[in-house]
Amino acid sequence: MKRILLTLAALGMAFVAVAQPQLREDNIDEVLKAMTLQEKATLLVGGARAAIVNGVTSGVSANVPGAAGNTRAIERLGIPMTVLADGPAGLRIQPTRQGDPRTYYCTGFPVGTLLASSWDLDLVQEVTTAMGNEVLEYGVDVLLAPGMNIHRNPLCGRNFEYFSEDPLLSGKMAAAYVKGIQSNGVGTSIKHYAANNQETNRNEDDAIISQRALREIYLKNFEIAVKEADPWTVMSSYNKLNGDYTQQSEGLLTTVLRDEWGFKGIVMTDWGNKAGTVKSAKAGNDLMEPGNQNEIERIIAGVEDGTISQEELDRNVRNMLTYIVRTPHFKGYKFSNKPDLKAHAAVARKAAGEAIVLLRNEKDALPLKGDEKVALYGISSIDFVAGGTGSGDVNKAYVVNMEEAMRNAGFTLDKGLTDFYSAYQAYDKAQNALSGTTFSWFMRRKLAEVAIPAAAIGNEAKANDVAVIVLGRNAGEGADRKMMDDFELTAIERELLQNVSASFHAAGKKVVVVLNVGGVIETNSWKNLVDAIVLPWSPGQEGANAVADVLTGKVNPSGKLPMTFPVNFMDHPSSANFPYNYQQSAMRGFSWGPRQPQKDVDYTKYEEGIWVGYRHFVTRDVAVSYPFGFGLGYTTFAYSKPTVKAGTDGFEATVTVKNTGSVAGKEVVELYVSAPAGGLEKPTRELKAFGKTKELQPGESQTLVLKVSAYQLASFNEATSAWEAAAGKYDVQFGASVDDIRCSAPFTLKKAQSWPVHNVLAPAE
Ligand code: BGC
Repeated sequence: MKRILLTLAALGMAFVAVAQPQLREDNIDEVLKAMTLQEKATLLVGGARAAIVNGVTSGVSANVPGAAGNTRAIERLGIPMTVLADGPAGLRIQPTRQGDPRTYYCTGFPVGTLLASSWDLDLVQEVTTAMGNEVLEYGVDVLLAPGMNIHRNPLCGRNFEYFSEDPLLSGKMAAAYVKGIQSNGVGTSIKHYAANNQETNRNEDDAIISQRALREIYLKNFEIAVKEADPWTVMSSYNKLNGDYTQQSEGLLTTVLRDEWGFKGIVMTDWGNKAGTVKSAKAGNDLMEPGNQNEIERIIAGVEDGTISQEELDRNVRNMLTYIVRTPHFKGYKFSNKPDLKAHAAVARKAAGEAIVLLRNEKDALPLKGDEKVALYGISSIDFVAGGTGSGDVNKAYVVNMEEAMRNAGFTLDKGLTDFYSAYQAYDKAQNALSGTTFSWFMRRKLAEVAIPAAAIGNEAKANDVAVIVLGRNAGEGADRKMMDDFELTAIERELLQNVSASFHAAGKKVVVVLNVGGVIETNSWKNLVDAIVLPWSPGQEGANAVADVLTGKVNPSGKLPMTFPVNFMDHPSSANFPYNYQQSAMRGFSWGPRQPQKDVDYTKYEEGIWVGYRHFVTRDVAVSYPFGFGLGYTTFAYSKPTVKAGTDGFEATVTVKNTGSVAGKEVVELYVSAPAGGLEKPTRELKAFGKTKELQPGESQTLVLKVSAYQLASFNEATSAWEAAAGKYDVQFGASVDDIRCSAPFTLKKAQSWPVHNVLAPAE
């Protein structure tokens, strides 16, 4: 009898074991059914063993040190953990591991703003194909990138990670970025969805935005990326939008993202832990990151007390399982930990060179010959900023600075100056060591410019052929930039520009400025002092070599501005509602007691509506220092008479571009549309398409074909909650910048068209 009972028990156990399905691509529902409530809740909460300091995580993912987070494994059902890591200028993991002699460096690619300055979708895809290979080969499943918030204001501390002030350019860039990464069989997380346009109090600030501005400006780029590139994941932002945390907004995460745009992946929170876990899960935020035990318990309690339904829970778990079966970890990919860093460094250099913007080149000051004696000024010539600080900072093996790059290119550098800057850097290092100052990974670290006596500059002007001044700015996560001494030049920088220009010009020699900045700075008051201005932004580990390539003419610059350079900071209408002088960083967004909600800190009214960037400057005819879409090169281009042919949906435009100069080069063509009068108020012109030629030899031409659909012509009407394209005559314009329209042709939309959407996300009255 006993033996029979034992046998039955063994059989029962075997039965239980057999009944546990193991996750496969084709049995997601079966696995879902087999999961306990505890397991379901566990899968919706990340499991990073990460140190979180005031919302910023120095991640330690379980099996890839330095990754930001992971999803949890449920071994019983064959569900593996998956690994998530930053992004966006390359993969961010820890470069060394305890007791392991090997290194795990990643390539520091150009930041998002520089990629966008290329206006070249193929190039961006080439960069992110290489970047995605590092994600795959280092055992990571999702790159937490691209960052794609709109440049609403020049001082947002994370603008360098983001692409543009224009939603079409931003959306197309993000789509190309996603396609490149995901071509490796790993995922992306487009972020931060949505309206995370300032760092100050980013965890709590309530962005108050009209439905029209939201739809046309702040969501449009996400819409394009989702529809064109199918990102595996979306990261909701920290902030509130019209009263709700974005991670708890059903309108944003379900109605718009999934129901209207057809998003099929998972939504994860940005790194934190907000109290309303259940509200987030209900709204369609599938995954809480980096995740903690409280969140698991809250979800379980929410199901038990009926706050969240079983169907809602299962919907999110199904999304998670669908995501997991796509990942390399699920597929058992044997990663090498050995991506080809040398090949990727070459891609980074090429991309930076293609994207650098030449803002000024009086009397063909550039290119230089390449063998000149150069007086290289500015501490940023050695304290070069390859990327920005915070989660977007890549742990790269090296950064080439301007001093090395200039030598690599064949220039001879003034030794007195290079010695002086090296000594200053060494002194600063020693001071920090003495005072015990350390800089954590998210802190801004930048040496202040140091004065050079006018008399010394006078001698340097005699002894050298040309002056190159590198002006630097660091920007990063967790704080916005300031108007004084950041957007504006510092007094020392101004004096340096003035003295160097005066002495070198008196000696009949040229002055070139290199802007190694993370965001827009003031240029109008000083640009006429100098002969040339080169803008490489924060161009990655090889970026300084790319600057030298542009200075020598080895690369003919073809980048154009993805945003406007205003005359004054206050010329941006958003500046009236931006915390440009607020001295508190986002990390200190909490207060010690109750306080009155503070303007631009606790809430930010986007009173400018759709009048962001060039939409404002062009329509209201406000003078700028450099317009949107502007960039010079070493050759010239002529545009042919364009044709615009109506199709079944919108139109197809063609224009032929000819290189009329004497060196080979590429041209970006920007297609703007002016809408017929009547109906909704519209900007004078809006970017609707763009293209870039291949490298054209002198005399060579290329015809570009650009398509625009009727939907793209539509504006959002809040009264009807619909996208509407008015009937009538549209003027299709082809520009070398938004202020330099070379030719145009009409297009007639015979019948008005409209696309109704849900009436969601309205601000409170
Ligand atoms: C940032 C995200 C980042 C995450 C993980 C957050 O603080 O806002 O952009 O992906 O940390 O490191």
